[in-house]
Parts: sequence; structure tokens; C-alpha cells
Amino acid sequence: MSEATSSSGGSGGRADDAPFRNPGWAGNTGSFDLTEDQVRGEDYVGTRPPDGGHPSGAPTYPYMLEDKDPEAALFEGAHLERFEKIRSRYPDSRAALLPTLNLAQELRGHVSPATMREVSDLLELSEAYVRGVTTFYTMYNKAPVGRYLVQVCTNISCNLCGGDEVLAAFLEHAGTEMGETSEDGLFTITEVECLAACGFPTAVQINSRYFENVTPEDVPALLDRLRSEAKAETD
Ligand code: FES
Repeated sequence: MSEATSSSGGSGGRADDAPFRNPGWAGNTGSFDLTEDQVRGEDYVGTRPPDGGHPSGAPTYPYMLEDKDPEAALFEGAHLERFEKIRSRYPDSRAALLPTLNLAQELRGHVSPATMREVSDLLELSEAYVRGVTTFYTMYNKAPVGRYLVQVCTNISCNLCGGDEVLAAFLEHAGTEMGETSEDGLFTITEVECLAACGFPTAVQINSRYFENVTPEDVPALLDRLRSEAKAETD
């Protein structure tokens, strides 16, 4: 057994006399000396530049620009360059479909039937094929969502730790219904299956950010923080 793994708590990179504390977020497993601010801060989750730039907090989820535009062109400028790069990576254009849909959702915020049609033209695939793939994955939004898409896990681990109450708190404090967008256009609240953060229930994904160990009491402050962020970005 290595020295790191034999130390109390098994957290390599941590000073031996530091008390073990569940960090409440999955960014630091002990292998990387990152602070919560670094993981959740601007460097990691700030506005993504159009040429791609830094990965988001949850790289499996298509990034969405804060000012998404359902009418944005597919594709032009830096996004066209990114699309061409995607195309050049794969000899078979079917393999380019998921990253192309990600790019479309990044720009437009959702993948409508019209977007599916455009993507099928761009990749010279049948519309039925593109539609079949897009509708298979729940992470492609089929309808417009608010500035913040709030996905609350209510699967077993989170459910046992109050996921249903966290979901109810989000609906109440955002003032909206399940799957609907709040009147101010800021929040769309949905319920999702396991976010693969079962060690930190209740897990909530907001756009590309993960929030862990969320309790109903945390929700008002969390929503206020997002409201302030949105205001600062639009002022
Ligand atoms: S059960 Fe909630 S993240 Fe897995």
C-alpha cells in the first residue's frame, strides 16, 4: 500500500494532520489539489468562448451559451471552424453526429425538429436517423429552456437523502412547474435519473455545473446566487 493510500482517510495530497472532511463536491478526490472555488470558479465554468475553450464542469452534457439564440446560424465564424474540425475527425459522418448536435445545442439551447433537419443536411444523413439519435438522448433539449436548466436527481441515493424535497424546493422558490420555465426566463426545473454523483446526495446539475450535498434549505440562496450572476452578466 502506498504512503498516500495508507494515510488516514485515504486522501493522497492532503497533509497527514488535516482532518478528513467530505468536501461535498466531486471535483477533488484527493488526487488533485484543487479548491472548491477552483472547480466551481470562472476558470472552469465561466462563459465558454466561441472557439471552444475550456471544458465545462460536466463535460458529458452539451454546453449551452448563456445567451442562446434559437435562430443562430448553423454554423458560422468560430463555430463553423469547430464544425469543420469535427467533420475532419471522422471518415463516417454518422460519427460526427453527437458532437455536431452538441454544437447546435450550445448555440441554440435546444434541438428542434428544424435543427435536426439542418444537421441532417449538413452531415448528409437521413432526417429519420438524426431524429432517432437526438430523441434517444435526454440531454438534448427538445424545447427551449431557461437561462439555467436545473436538473435535480431523485434516483435512489439522492431520494433516500431528500431529493424529492430538494426538487420541491426548487419548484417553489423558482416559481415554476416541472419542466416549465419561470416567468423571468431564468429557470427550467427538471427531475433526472442518477447524475453519477451518488456519494454526494442530493446532486443537482445546473447547466454544466454540478452542485452536491444540496438540501432544501440551500435552494433559496443558490437561486439568488444565479439571479445575481444573470443580472451581472446582462448589466
Ligand atoms: S442517485 Fe443521485 S447522483 Fe446517483
